[in-house]
Amino acid sequence: APDIDVAAVKGHLNELQSIADSNGGNRAHGQPGYKASLDYIKGKLDAAGFTTAIQEFDFNGSTGYNLIADWPGSSADQVVMAGAHLDSVGRGPGINDNGSGSAGILEVALAVAKADLKPAKQLRFAWWGAEEYGMVGSTHYVGKLGSGGLSKIDSYLNFDMIGSPNPGYFVYDDDPELEKVFKDWYAAKDIATEPETEGDGRSDHAPFKERGVRVGGLFTGAETKKTQEQARNWGGTAGESFDPCYHSSCDTTKNLDDTALDYNSDAIASAIWDLSA
Ligand code: PHE
Ligand code: CA
Ligand code: ZN
Ligand code: ZN
Ligand code: ZN
Repeated sequence: APDIDVAAVKGHLNELQSIADSNGGNRAHGQPGYKASLDYIKGKLDAAGFTTAIQEFDFNGSTGYNLIADWPGSSADQVVMAGAHLDSVGRGPGINDNGSGSAGILEVALAVAKADLKPAKQLRFAWWGAEEYGMVGSTHYVGKLGSGGLSKIDSYLNFDMIGSPNPGYFVYDDDPELEKVFKDWYAAKDIATEPETEGDGRSDHAPFKERGVRVGGLFTGAETKKTQEQARNWGGTAGESFDPCYHSSCDTTKNLDDTALDYNSDAIASAIWDLSA
């Protein structure tokens, strides 16, 4: 898999920040900054040759939108999916939560196009709406897929907060094989990981897991405070939250750890290449 350029990931995050800045400070469901974020991501994917579709749903009196992007050329009997929620909370621009996952998978998708990858399995990327209201977009998608569509999903990888400013390296422990893909990647770099527990059931992998799809993912931590031992392993500040700006107005482009964002983007690319081969 290619090395993902973290500067490119940060370029997308700067765009999402300026979209929030010019749309009342957020990119929340039902607000103009959400649709502008989606249009930005869709434009990049369309230019790169993805087949994109916008899936609409209604929630709370507003239209919500998921963006689904398929990489053409493979048979769709076995689909490897990567997803991230694109909506922010109303209180801020949502750059770590979850511009980070959104920009990370976008740059990996663009790398797939650049490499003109011909995977054995079909690759699909998804940006979910209204996660912050209870995984509304991803739940809608899974419901519409039906059991026929669901049985074709080989695996779903979720990325919600992958650049926390005081980062931890957490790997979803829901499926042993998918967990191993990420654990091995970090082990080869001599970086310790821990099983992700803070987010169980709290992000867009949950509706997939509930319907029997195997799920995996990465997470750098939210409100929980870093322990002394974690600070020895990972650096950063013990006794402080992994993301002190979680769901706050200060979740801006300053609220990121570039190293964590870089490692996780590279690890996503590696997983996507290996799992779709
Ligand atoms: N889903 C939570 C949110 O968007 C964040 C989260 C992700 C928390 C993963 C725990 C684990 O606010
Ligand atoms: Ca990199
Ligand atoms: Zn959130
Ligand atoms: Zn989130
Ligand atoms: Zn878990």
